[in-house]
Amino acid sequence: MNPSAISSQTLSQENEVIAMTQTIQEQAMINGGIIRPLVYFRHNIARVVGHLCFGPAFNNEAFIIGIDPLINDAISLSAFTRFSDAFPFFRSIPGLWGPYRQAFEICDRIVSMVQSEITHYQSSKSPCTTCYLHFLLSHGYPMETIIFILFETFLLTNDSTSFTIAWALAFLIRNPEIQLKLFKEVSGGDEKRERVTVDQVNKMPYLQAVVNEVLRMKPIAPLGIPHKTVKDTTLKGWKIDEGTAVMVNIYALHHDPKVWDHPEQFMLERFLNENAPMEKSLLPFGAGRRICVGRDLGKLQVGLTLANLINKFEWVATDGDGPDMTDAYTAILRMKEPLLAGIKLRTNLGTTLS
Ligand code: HEM
Repeated sequence: MNPSAISSQTLSQENEVIAMTQTIQEQAMINGGIIRPLVYFRHNIARVVGHLCFGPAFNNEAFIIGIDPLINDAISLSAFTRFSDAFPFFRSIPGLWGPYRQAFEICDRIVSMVQSEITHYQSSKSPCTTCYLHFLLSHGYPMETIIFILFETFLLTNDSTSFTIAWALAFLIRNPEIQLKLFKEVSGGDEKRERVTVDQVNKMPYLQAVVNEVLRMKPIAPLGIPHKTVKDTTLKGWKIDEGTAVMVNIYALHHDPKVWDHPEQFMLERFLNENAPMEKSLLPFGAGRRICVGRDLGKLQVGLTLANLINKFEWVATDGDGPDMTDAYTAILRMKEPLLAGIKLRTNLGTTLS
């Protein structure tokens, strides 16, 4: 996940996003300009991560499509595992063994799917030597560890980026004036851009403000990822025993009225002035030693995708009120109602129904 590994992904990332906007356009055309875009975001990031893990030659659509329900099942189960971590005695109630059986079944499916991709890589005549799998194999980790590290990379990447993009579009549909300002920035003013590149994305302050405000309002891992204390310790006078699961309430930090004015409002101004309280109080990627390793890639993927989606289409509500902004809380802050949106293709002559 170092900067050079990420920048070597740039071209593939840009091409995948452009191919995805094309697919979204085609699918919306079949459906009268209406689209449920989440699945395309998920497949798109899975392809990018596939290149990172298995090398630029990775091109296995069956893997991309097959890993999606596995990620969904694993995330759905994670809510139960947190519950049983908090109340371990529930594990001995036979009626609650179902999720354990389900966990083993998911585990078998993960092993078989990832293992076959590893075998494919190993049987290649010239396997890539700059990908993550090469790194893991060359360090001699046990195969089981390699399989689950690879799966974890897909899992941690997929929901985080795809739901952040979906939340962002939902906010932009509900705030058309903000969407218009963003369009002006990503399209470069009067001149109509064919595509927005990674280089351009990094120089767009309004887009960055949109991404930051979405990550503030909808931190995708609202309680971070649980960690376990390695020794007895204290925190602000509280005694915490060794082996205790500790979670950080990122959602509460992002909605603290002592730090953020009107925390429930989508307000970009807070990130457009120099005194924005970002450094200390915006922690969508966690903090410290275990901070998200994919934060640069994740932020870039969200910004790049959003820029190209807004550059190409106007996003509109399918009914009067716009998308439902209610959260469906698992371990991940997903949308309760997956985004359904209307899109209009932007042309030099204005928008047309796509
Ligand atoms: C919008 C995008 C993303 C968000 C909001 C996000 C958020 C987070 C958060 C809150 C954590 C927990 C940090 C902690 O425990 O303090 C985390 C951990 C992690 N993330 Fe991300 N993430 C994103 C994208 C990605 C991407 C693209 C990757 C991989 C390429 C990734 C890989 C990881 C890994 C491996 C960890 C575990 C790190 C560890 O425990 O040492 N994430 N992420």
